[in-house]
This record gives sequence, structure tokens and C-alpha cells, in this order.
Amino acid sequence: MSEVRILGIETSCDETAAAVVADGRRILSNIVASQVDLHARYGGVFPELASRAHIEAIVPVVQDAMAQAGTTWDDLSAVAVTVGPGLVGSLLVGVNVAKGLALGRGLPLIPVNHLEAHIYANWLDTGDGPRDFSFPLLVLIVSGGHTELVLMRGHGDYQYLGGTLDDAAGEAFDKVGRLLGLPYPGGPNIEKAAAAGNPARFRLPRSWLEETYDFSFSGLKTAVARLVQQQGAPSRFVSDLAAAFQEAVMDVLATKTVAAAREFGATAILLSGGVSANQVLRAAIRARATVPVYYPPPILCTDNAAMVAACGYFRYRAGVRANWDLDVDPDLRLV
Ligand code: KG4
Ligand code: ZN
Repeated sequence: MSEVRILGIETSCDETAAAVVADGRRILSNIVASQVDLHARYGGVFPELASRAHIEAIVPVVQDAMAQAGTTWDDLSAVAVTVGPGLVGSLLVGVNVAKGLALGRGLPLIPVNHLEAHIYANWLDTGDGPRDFSFPLLVLIVSGGHTELVLMRGHGDYQYLGGTLDDAAGEAFDKVGRLLGLPYPGGPNIEKAAAAGNPARFRLPRSWLEETYDFSFSGLKTAVARLVQQQGAPSRFVSDLAAAFQEAVMDVLATKTVAAAREFGATAILLSGGVSANQVLRAAIRARATVPVYYPPPILCTDNAAMVAACGYFRYRAGVRANWDLDVDPDLRLV
């Protein structure tokens, strides 16, 4: 069977991204135009600015992805695009461009769930050979908008085990980053500050929500806010508190992920989403797990379009096609 090349397009939040991937695994190009600088002064994503920045960037980003891949439109089998979850105005830009391209070039259009795309980043070949997994897999999705534990029983077949009752893990990192006076986004900046910190200096609360695979991070965030109020934010204090916060979040995530893998007989654990770029999380899960643990390289953990094209490939093979009245779904769920 001949190679299936898919153009993936991602505009769900603040990265404008396009990529060409062969057979769901081999990255031919992966272009990401980040809006981090644009949103940094607001300490978070400003939705209207995000959609306008997508409008400006999307066509050059797609052109770059096609050129770097050395791919002609005739080489493509389909266009895959994120339809949700995400910011409505941002999603609309990607979906409209994907529709226009698919219609103009006579290509099938594949709708992709952003959360599922994060999972499929694990299938991408990053130089250590193609990865193939046997089901069931235990998946932890930890991003700016989501924290979910899911049992993946097959391609496109998911069982929801639990998730956050309040803030997503990445959201908690971003809010605590702001409390500590660190630049946006909080996640990578907390990880950096924490590297020089002593996590044992502060005893922070952990919400175990026993007997469930649910999470809650708002109490932890409040505890950090109280400490900042009491002590101000001198740099030694910031790195120690960043380290203690990071350890508290990762302790709960790792413990529950490994427990779920054991209970459901998973053959491996897959980490996905922006927070899975975090080395402390990876190490915490590896240290506790009794099955292999996989995660994409950091650049494929955060938002990108290679993961959209990879996911789109498996949907394409399953016969999924969008109609021309395809709409975005800002609240789309995995299950
Ligand atoms: O998956 P992603 O790029 O976008 C969403 O779909 O939300 O995730 C972004 C989130 C942000 O909250 C960011 O602070 C967090 O991932 N993040 C990290 C790290 N890198 C990104 N959190 C902790 N440690 C990191 N190294
Ligand atoms: Zn994401």
C-alpha cells in the first residue's frame, strides 16, 4: 500500500501550526508559530488577539510546512484539522483554512479531537524507530485545559477513568507561576525555577480524593497564595516554593496514573499534553511504574500539528471523513 501523507492543521489555542506526516508516524515537516510573546504581557491567552494572530500566520505556516516537507498537493491523501476543544475563534481559523484547502484540492477532510491528537504524539517517530503499542494503554493527558486519566482500549476507543474537578494541571502551573511573579507560561518557568529549589522547605497539601481517579489542584493553589502573601516573593523563596508546588502536583499525578495502570492491566503508560514535557513528572512516573512509560519529546508534548496529522492518519484509516458543513466544538470531549 502506498504511503499516506497527511497535512495537519492546529489552531485551538495560541500556537498556529501545520505539519506533514507520513503514515501517521514519520514527520516530514512540523511548523509551529507561537504567540507566547503576544500573550505574555496579559499573563495568559487573550482570545481575540489569538484568533487575529492565527489569521495572520496560518497561510505562511501551511506554506512552510508544505515546502519543508518537499510535498506537492498531489502527494497528500487528506487534510486533518483540530475541531475542538479550544477557543472558538481560534478553532474557526484552522477549520476554515482546512476546508478551503481540502475543497480546492479535492482532498478528504478529517476532523481531529485536540486531546486525542496529544495522545497520538506518542506514535510519532523521533529517531528511535517507529513505536507500536499493544492495548490497553493507560493514558495521562495533562495540558493547559485538561487533566484526564483514560484507558485506551484500541484506536479511537477510550474509557474515561477520572479527571480534574477544578483546575487543569497546566492551568494550576500557569496560575501559580503568576503568583510567584514568573513569566507566562508558568509550567516551563516553574520547572526552571524549581531546579534550584528545595521542595522540602514547604509542606503543601495534596488532594488525594481517595477511591477515585479524580484530581483537584485548587486547594494547593490557595496554599501557595497564602504563603506568598505571608512572605512576599524573594528569589530563594520562589525557587523553594516552585519546587514544593511542582512536587505536590507530580506526586498526585504519578501515584494515580500508576495505580490506574495496575488496576486496568495496561501494557504501558503514555503521557501526553504540555505538562508531560516536565522532567519531574516523567521521573516520578518512571520511578513508580511497573510497565514501560512513554512520552513524546518536549516539542511534541506542547501544541503542534504533527500530532494532529498522526491522529488524522488513524481516523483516515478508520474511514472517518468530515462533511463540508463541519463546525468547531469548543467543548469537545474525548469520551
Ligand atoms: O498541551 P498544551 O501546549 O496546550 C493545551 O492544550 O492546553 O499545554 C500547555 C500547558 C500550559 O499550561 C503550560 O504551562 C504547561 O502546559 N507546560 C508545562 C511545561 N511545559 C508546558 N507544565 C509543567 N512543566 C513544563 N515543563
Ligand atoms: Zn494542547
